[in-house]
Amino acid sequence: MDRTRHFLSIADWSPERLREALDLADRLKADPDAAGRPLAGKTLAMIFTKSSTRTRVSFQVGTHQLGGQALFLSSRDIQIGRGEPLSDTARVLSRFVHGIMIRTFAQSDVEALAEHGSIPVINGLTDLLHPCQIMADLQTARDEFGPDLSGRTVAWIGDGNNVANSWLNAAAKLGFRLRLACPEGYDPDPVILAAAGRATQVDLFRAPVEAAEGAHVVTTDVWASMGQEEEAAERARAFEGYHVGADVLARAADDAIFLHCLPAHRGEEVAAEVIDGPASRVWDEAENRLHSQKAILAMLMGAPS
Ligand code: CP
Ligand code: NVA
Repeated sequence: MDRTRHFLSIADWSPERLREALDLADRLKADPDAAGRPLAGKTLAMIFTKSSTRTRVSFQVGTHQLGGQALFLSSRDIQIGRGEPLSDTARVLSRFVHGIMIRTFAQSDVEALAEHGSIPVINGLTDLLHPCQIMADLQTARDEFGPDLSGRTVAWIGDGNNVANSWLNAAAKLGFRLRLACPEGYDPDPVILAAAGRATQVDLFRAPVEAAEGAHVVTTDVWASMGQEEEAAERARAFEGYHVGADVLARAADDAIFLHCLPAHRGEEVAAEVIDGPASRVWDEAENRLHSQKAILAMLMGAPS
């Protein structure tokens, strides 16, 4: 399988291809029609086995703006919910549509779709990764600090989850530093952490204030991700103190920005005064989902099929 025909993980794309996507995202932000209608006559199937606001709406609107149409397919309604293998779904959808975006639990399911289908597959979040989110986050950081992020530092506070893993992949590709503060037992994926540590400077702390020291981007996410609802009480105990408050932000660079993929829980992983305060760029970050995903759609599905 040629992984560059898909967007399964940031780790699959070269730094040049990631920068090409981010540059196109910037052009699309300045002019929504900058790419023309490369998806004219084409259809994106969007499979969701988890909830979504931003991913669903931004992909649907983005596909429309590029001249195509998007189909929302809830796993509650299509046959994968009744056990039809993903490999068969991939083969069938490949006869009807021109690309698939999927949000689900197992990364292996996303890989199976790509393996057995003949059309591009985009990872709209798994338990392991959230690459589309990080493209929007990178666009937001570049909006603030310019296109070269290599001299910058990102601080991740909290769960070593899918979003943290994709930040690690991005740091490895683009060469910025990553400082993480995770409670013991909630570190990022060890393989992704080790690979990023070989490519760039990655430091793992236990105290949020230490990780935030000198950072240009301070970011966090919920304590319990989708699918972890039953662990919520146990996680609330483990993550006590893993909170981005004014004290944590004060340790960051003077021009630091705060990012959060959303949805957020004010008073848990982030203080209202931070997410609603002057350093917060979370609404720009959410908007950038649209521009950065349009770039990915145009690059993967825009070429003649
Ligand atoms: N950040 C993000 O992916 O949001 P949704 O879960 O609303 O899609
Ligand atoms: N880590 C969160 C991100 C939601 C966009 C989750 O997986 O639920």
